[in-house]
Amino acid sequence: MPLLIQNGEIVTADSRFHADIYAAGETITAIGHNLPVPPGTEVIDATGKLVFPGFIDPHVHIYLPFMSTFAKDTHETASIAALLGGTTTLIEMCCPSRNDDALEAYELWKQKAAGHSACDYTFHMSVTRFDDKTESQLREIVADGMSSFKIFLAYKNFFGVDDGEMYQTMKLAKKLGVIVTAHCENAELVGRLQQGLLAEGKTGPEWHEPSRPESVEAEGTQRFATFLENTGAAGYVVHLSCEPALRAAVLAKQRGVRLSVESVIPHFLLDKTYTERAGVEGMKHVMSPPLRDRRNQKPLWDALAAGLIDTVGTDHCPFDVDQKRMGEGNFTQIPNGIPGLEERVNLLYAYGVKRGSLDIHRFVDAASTRAAKLFGLFPRKGTIAVGSDADLVIYDPAYRGTISAATHHGNFDYNGFEGFAIEGRPWAVTVRGAVQVKEAKFTGTRGTGKLLRREAIHA
Ligand code: URP
Ligand code: ZN
Ligand code: ZN
Repeated sequence: MPLLIQNGEIVTADSRFHADIYAAGETITAIGHNLPVPPGTEVIDATGKLVFPGFIDPHVHIYLPFMSTFAKDTHETASIAALLGGTTTLIEMCCPSRNDDALEAYELWKQKAAGHSACDYTFHMSVTRFDDKTESQLREIVADGMSSFKIFLAYKNFFGVDDGEMYQTMKLAKKLGVIVTAHCENAELVGRLQQGLLAEGKTGPEWHEPSRPESVEAEGTQRFATFLENTGAAGYVVHLSCEPALRAAVLAKQRGVRLSVESVIPHFLLDKTYTERAGVEGMKHVMSPPLRDRRNQKPLWDALAAGLIDTVGTDHCPFDVDQKRMGEGNFTQIPNGIPGLEERVNLLYAYGVKRGSLDIHRFVDAASTRAAKLFGLFPRKGTIAVGSDADLVIYDPAYRGTISAATHHGNFDYNGFEGFAIEGRPWAVTVRGAVQVKEAKFTGTRGTGKLLRREAIHA
């Protein structure tokens, strides 16, 4: 059914104006004033609302076998939560373990999502081993449209690669024009520090951060950048959490390394005192890189405002409280992850835009446009223009509410942002012209999300 959004205030990464938007089918076909209403058109009155391009979360885990358990969402629950939070496209990490076959894993991840996601989606393909079969398998996956790789410098013997494998991955990425995303922590140091702390009887979640200190992440970031510099590949640091790692990344950018930076919403708003809370409360906030000392937050906000941090994702990775309890008496066994897929946009708007730390255009850029550009989705996604997909977030800036597990839509039983006040929320959300959220409720069709194939653009 054709769609007309009337009287909204359109805000993109570089423009702001009042106009109507018309989509005859899946894409935007007209933007203008007093657009005609052909018979059979679904009309949404956006008076008093902001109209943003659909937001893109570049770092999500949905299906994930990890730390002896599985992340809790399904593609149905995660995508509905995403849409209610304004995210119309998500990029899931396809994460085989080191012992798995990459192609079989890729097919499995696709199968898990197909017909279940209500929003559009695509994958970063993790390279967790580089052997004789890897190059041909990765070529096949890139030919299928997955034009970004993921490597882990952490999680030794599970997802982690060594320096030789990182080098081989980057050389291939450069040849194929693929961008390499990376979790940057020194695996060896993390392992040694964990053992040392446990040997001293330091077993609670408050010891998670000291086992992966800022210097360990800075070293990983610096090493990743040095390998990019010497292979010519394009790279993207995921979930950068602290000032020393930021400094390493900015220095690399300054000397011309093709490096982009993502930070994730927990690191802007939560700090390590959350992991120091008694019992399971602390465990709920264990993720890697860990929540840091609060002094890191202002440098992150400043770098985001300046565009030195390119994107804000979530690293959505939900586990129930009982799963978190698997690490009682040994913090190294607490499944790592804090969910945020539904909350990211509202938190960034409330604590960035409304508090004056983030210009509204940079907000759109960091939460949508820049990811679209980096990952081969622009201008199909990430903007509002004739010819782009009609992925639109009609945002109610007058809404006031509070985040809570009692009202969230993900398939997990706690919320890391419990009690955070928000100012504004998506009121209606469309994906390729179909209304999926109306009056802040999911009213759409499940399973209609499309797998997005992407050009390799980083030659
Ligand atoms: O704690 C985290 N980040 N869990 C998900 C896996 C990863 O490292 O991205
Ligand atoms: Zn990670
Ligand atoms: Zn992750």
